[in-house]
Amino acid sequence: MDLVISLESNNVLPLHRQLYEELRRAILSARLRPGERLPSTRALASSLGISRATVTQSYEQLISEGYLQGVVGSGTKVCVQLPDELLRTAPVKAAAAPQQQRKPQLTRYGQSLDDSVPLEPPEPELPINFKSGRPALEEFPLTQWRRLLLRHCRSDQAALLDYATNLRGLPELRHAIAEHVARSRAVRCTAEQVIIINGSQQAIDLITKLLIERGDTVAVENPGYLGARRAFLAQGAKLQPIPVDENGIVVERLAALPPQLVKLVYVTPSHQFPTGVVLPLARRLELLQWAETNGAVIIEDDYDSEFRYDSRPIPALQGLTENANVLYVGTFSKVLFPSLRIGYLVVPTSLTHVFARARWIADRQTPTLEQLALTDFIREGHLDRHLRRMRTLYDKRRQVLVRALRHHFGERVSILGENTGMHLMVRWQTKLPAEELVRRAAEAGVGIVSAALYYLERAPQDEFVLGYAGLSERRIQEGVRRLAKILS
Ligand SMILES: Cc1ncc(COP(=O)(O)O)c(C=O)c1O
Repeated sequence: MDLVISLESNNVLPLHRQLYEELRRAILSARLRPGERLPSTRALASSLGISRATVTQSYEQLISEGYLQGVVGSGTKVCVQLPDELLRTAPVKAAAAPQQQRKPQLTRYGQSLDDSVPLEPPEPELPINFKSGRPALEEFPLTQWRRLLLRHCRSDQAALLDYATNLRGLPELRHAIAEHVARSRAVRCTAEQVIIINGSQQAIDLITKLLIERGDTVAVENPGYLGARRAFLAQGAKLQPIPVDENGIVVERLAALPPQLVKLVYVTPSHQFPTGVVLPLARRLELLQWAETNGAVIIEDDYDSEFRYDSRPIPALQGLTENANVLYVGTFSKVLFPSLRIGYLVVPTSLTHVFARARWIADRQTPTLEQLALTDFIREGHLDRHLRRMRTLYDKRRQVLVRALRHHFGERVSILGENTGMHLMVRWQTKLPAEELVRRAAEAGVGIVSAALYYLERAPQDEFVLGYAGLSERRIQEGVRRLAKILS
């Protein structure tokens, strides 16, 4: 018999009782099978280093209860038929192959999480990857960040380790963020309206859970961000694609829908994802007017607008109105680093309470240590400094990319949305299907993403998204050279 039995000398149960429990558990879990012979009392006693009388006592108890059969001393076996009452306790079977396992019935939410809409584009490991949304992580002032973390770690405050007392996040951080967004994005809010969340994705998820019922219509930019689309679908929303032109979402098309059909509209007005175009002021006002008239809520996802190059910042939608319901979402994933998982949600005062409670239910809070370090990072000017440095760096990288594209492709490329953010979009004149181009680029060690993925309908084959923030100038040049070879 190849059975592991562990007995503990300091256990409150006597040894014979411990052995009895171990054997009983082994029988019920089918580690000892019906009919299987047990070792003799002498052999088991010697292998466990206990007295033979102890083993005999356990065996006798199990025989009397019907788990074992036989005569002690002349062969003891597991009963072939276990008593009825024991059979009611379903034995734990050895893990079955996944396809044989009975899957618990999923909710409609669970069933909606199929793979029909990917969470993110596939991400190959390639030497030159024009992946969008990846900051220059090597440039992050890690030493400074470490110093701030350590400062708080050394403080010896038990509160640092405890559950947070404020459901909306650290008040100091919320103040710092309220000031930051007022200054840089003209968002109008008090710290009370700021809720710290684990990245924009959590904000979108919470908004959807609180404001969307199954079957509600949600308008999304077409093309648009997959993370948002995925969250709306999971909640059972009907998606209404609204086209995007060179000035962002076409508000006229929203206005042409039956009144009050759309419950919520998701927009990326300051750097439309993925086209990169910016919604001009006039259209912003039109959108706000439409939302107000139709009683619709706007999610304003301002994910990378801190990086502006050739144009003056346009105020956030949120700051342009006092009437429409705008839920402003910001993130530190792009300005600092994505694994930090800190973002913020600015909501109308009437909704702060319910959002804070929903956030608590989701995962209680954002880690306190990182919130403290981030507060200092903002307050001591490191955020502004880092932003200035990255703006200059990304601007250079962007110019290198634009020049390389012009140099290699000339008239055969049009470039969109290069004035803001960390990526741009290109339209290449090519007869190659998008998938084939992505495949050939990958063979040449270059990662590009076809924008077709982001379309709900009428996906063009000639649009591609090129992120440049995380790539050195040399890699950008080499990447475009390789792409030109494929496309020539
Ligand atoms: C449109 C858009 N919103 C938000 C995010 C960032 O999400 P998070 O803050 O959850 O990291 C991204 C990341 O790529 C994005 O493209």
